[in-house]
Amino acid sequence: MNYFEPLTAFVDLTDGTIPEATAVQRRRLVDLKGLFADSQAETARLGENPLLYEVHEAAEIPKKDGHQLFSTTILRPGTVGDEYFMTKGHYHARSDRSELYYGLAGEGLLLMQTPEGRINAQPMRAGAACYVPPYWGHRSINTGLENLVFLAVYPADAGYDYGTIAEEGFAQIVVTGPEGPRLVPNPRYRGGGSRA
Ligand code: F6R
Ligand code: ZN
Repeated sequence: MNYFEPLTAFVDLTDGTIPEATAVQRRRLVDLKGLFADSQAETARLGENPLLYEVHEAAEIPKKDGHQLFSTTILRPGTVGDEYFMTKGHYHARSDRSELYYGLAGEGLLLMQTPEGRINAQPMRAGAACYVPPYWGHRSINTGLENLVFLAVYPADAGYDYGTIAEEGFAQIVVTGPEGPRLVPNPRYRGGGSRA
């Protein structure tokens, strides 16, 4: 038997980075172009093109059935128009693969959606262990004033389907309101039979 060797990755709990990460991905506003509901506000900020988040991948683990991958996400605070900074969001390419998010710092929401457009939002903060069941698309949203940081653990063969979210969006978005964050219908949503 060709055993894969056990390993440990250390997360810096002061900022969520993994100093010995094998890969770090950075996503700026341009990488989410077309996803924010207020396209004028989005265009206005594209020149500045702020960094929205980083993903630190813990280790080089085979992307094969049976293994698990894990990474931290560090999502900055801020808004585009009145919509909070968020991740692109995706379904898993192998859509029956689930995932666990574990909140490390900050405050936000884990927005999930079925392919039919049914929404479920779970609270994200230090200590929150949030379960993404099979088939649910998922996106994280920073509704706080500090970075939202979480660890994600997922089957190594889950993969990413970003195309469906790019085409259809989420049925709801999270915007600022006088009484705090609120979920409202996404005027750019094109899924769940809403297409003309
Ligand atoms: C992996 C997963 C997270 C996200 C990360 C960035 O399945 O859900 O590690 O990949 O939070 O979000 P996306 O991938 O939507 O840009
Ligand atoms: Zn995922």
